[in-house]
Amino acid sequence: APRFAVFGHPIAHSLSPRIHEAFAAQLGIRLEYATIDAEPARFEAAVRQFFAEGGVGANVTLPHKHAAFAMADEHTEAARRTGVANTLTRLPDGRIKAHNTDGGGFVRDITERGGFDLRGHDALLLGAGGAAKAVAWALMDAGVQSLTIVNRTPERADEVADAIGEPARCHTRYWDGLEGECFDLIVNATSIGVTGGGFDLPMSIVQDHSTAYDLCYGASAAEFKGWAVAAGVRPDWFRDGLGMLVEQAADAFEAWHGQRPDTDPVYRELRQRY
Ligand code: ATR
Repeated sequence: APRFAVFGHPIAHSLSPRIHEAFAAQLGIRLEYATIDAEPARFEAAVRQFFAEGGVGANVTLPHKHAAFAMADEHTEAARRTGVANTLTRLPDGRIKAHNTDGGGFVRDITERGGFDLRGHDALLLGAGGAAKAVAWALMDAGVQSLTIVNRTPERADEVADAIGEPARCHTRYWDGLEGECFDLIVNATSIGVTGGGFDLPMSIVQDHSTAYDLCYGASAAEFKGWAVAAGVRPDWFRDGLGMLVEQAADAFEAWHGQRPDTDPVYRELRQRY
């Protein structure tokens, strides 16, 4: 069967194998999907070896998304805009193509599964790393009225806004400069929930209809959810990143197999456990 894998470090808890195997079962496609734990120094060699041994496609997660972009010969527009890749494909001539399906997965989850129409809304994005960049571009494409980006290191937020280059619609603020502003959507793309730390933000940025979204899921989303609910976000208007994970996987799956899986049953099954 065609071989696929997810590369990360650590990688043991990745849900990607289960998601891709469930999609494949649904469509009657045969595949093998492995998890490969590669230390950063060995990442590129491990991917090249995987492709040399017949691997067809790879998903890439932390901390390898920059390296995945850098080693590729071709890049989709979404990958080029962000400088990071979460999916690699071996082309027929042996060259490697990088994709970034995170932003598209985020927008599909929040609009189609979450029923949140992004058009005309004011969004706040916390963070300016690779995941944040993907979400920033996707929010702009989806037609938000405004996008405000804040980051602990403000220069990185400025870089994202400068790259987008629509100053009337996308701008930055200092992390402690949000007093008096309010938002329909607040997205956490920082790693605070993973590495530890708090969300030191004015609760007044939340309105009674605001939605909060954490790109992480499970325990890593608990800190931001706690802040959001305390600030007045209704608990069922908080979304974690499990749906985005399934949606970005569906885009990778379609790029590899040319068929679009139905994400809902896979999402529902995972939701019962995470
Ligand atoms: P990823 O590619 O997953 O987005 P990253 O590039 O390491 O990962 O980005 C992590 C994000 O979380 C950054 O926006 C980082 O802020 P800095 O740019 O200032 O480093 C943010 N972050 C991590 N720990 C944080 C903390 N304790 N407080 C505030 N922001 C934090």
